[in-house]
Amino acid sequence: MSLLDRIGNTPLREIPYPKSDKVRVFAKLEWCNPSGSVKDRAAANMIQDALEKGQLEGKTLIDATSGNTGIAYAMLGASLGIPIELALPENASKERQLILRNYGAKIHLTSAMEATDGSQRFVEQLVNENPDKYFYPDQYNNPNNWGVHVKTTGPEIWRQTDEKITHFIAGLGTTGTFVGTSRYLQPKGVTCISVQPNTPMHGLEGWKHMETAIVPGIYDNTIADSTMTADTEQAFRLAKAASKYLGLMLSPSAAANLSVAFDLADQIGSGTIVTTFADNGMKYLQDAFWTNDDYNISNPFI
Ligand SMILES: Cc1ncc(COP(=O)(O)O)c(C=O)c1O
Repeated sequence: MSLLDRIGNTPLREIPYPKSDKVRVFAKLEWCNPSGSVKDRAAANMIQDALEKGQLEGKTLIDATSGNTGIAYAMLGASLGIPIELALPENASKERQLILRNYGAKIHLTSAMEATDGSQRFVEQLVNENPDKYFYPDQYNNPNNWGVHVKTTGPEIWRQTDEKITHFIAGLGTTGTFVGTSRYLQPKGVTCISVQPNTPMHGLEGWKHMETAIVPGIYDNTIADSTMTADTEQAFRLAKAASKYLGLMLSPSAAANLSVAFDLADQIGSGTIVTTFADNGMKYLQDAFWTNDDYNISNPFI
């Protein structure tokens, strides 16, 4: 079995929702992908498409990423013999930077103040100046990003819930996960709800606050049946509780998805909600939220 064949088919885990037995909440454990995040799906699909079109011959792959897509590119590049260069905000967690270097990728750090938008601008300039050197998959504008979720994530969720899913809810980064998975599930009658941070400055690494960020070209704001917002502090509290009571170490974005899935569960009388855990918390342990709190947190799962 090749590395590419090991991507996807991640487990669907039920998260105990204690307030009603008519609502069930499930999460796709995307950290079970080979490089540890949902981004293996998009990176592999974008690279495969470029290989088929001969766009990578003699080229270095470069992209802007808050980390996970970069880690996926770096893992696949190491395995397929493709040189990888990545731009990421200088405040991206140390662990992420070390993982990228471990796979042999070259890193360009950009201003923390400009977040991933700054990384994107940096890459665009470098590619314009060196068009023969680089292949730029541009995950924010590449249809193979969301396309892979139509082909894989959506059908997996449909199958794993025995076609019982009623609500799909997920946060927006490049928007690939939400857009692609919804394009598969929505025609089957599933209500699709997108989530954004509730403030422009937030701790939900990998997510965008659309009103104040560069909106990805692949984003289709007509898809969501409704939208919800996530609060960073509430997400981190839930992350601690999930570590303590469920043995699930959630990343900030995974915790935010779960937090809003629970908010949605409070609103609907019955149904089956599915969300995604893009990655786990291992790369975020230096974040202050994880160390400055006491761990006498009550159990929200019983
Ligand atoms: C940790 C994390 N969560 C969520 C997302 C959002 O996924 P998508 O880019 O498919 O919208 C990302 C994307 O970079 C991410 O890194």
